Amino acid sequence: MALREIVKIGDSILRQRSREIEAFDERLHALLDDMAQTLDKENGLGIAAVQVGILKRAAIIKSGGVTYEIINPVIIKTEGAVCDSEGCLSVPNERGDVERPKAVTVRAYDRYGKLKEHTAGGYTARAFCHEIDHMDGVLFIDKLYDNKKKRKE
Ligand code: CO
Repeated sequence: MALREIVKIGDSILRQRSREIEAFDERLHALLDDMAQTLDKENGLGIAAVQVGILKRAAIIKSGGVTYEIINPVIIKTEGAVCDSEGCLSVPNERGDVERPKAVTVRAYDRYGKLKEHTAGGYTARAFCHEIDHMDGVLFIDKLYDNKKKRKE
């Protein structure tokens, strides 16, 4: 395992769409292990592959004592809406209120290519949405509740 460098705002890769993963191989496992180690070191809640410079649809979320590895995730159900404060390892020293679903159900592959469903609420649901946004080049600062605070890079 190795620590990877976090890509920061201003790098255009963060605005690109990540590609679907087709090979659930050792290379993917090494990437996920590196992402997990990097997430721990940065004390983060979630990390998407694009944040370590890899345009693949994979993310790790550590929330509520559970670690989720989601590959090619799709949100299949949402419930309600709630506004809460959010930050991002790629946007240092900035937080802002973002409206997200209260609960989500996400369908995603695990590292072995097995399709799974995760239902989560609260901050875990928020983390799922935040990481899946990363895969489409979207950052939380694009969605700030207070439009006055909305800004361009
Ligand atoms: Co983020």
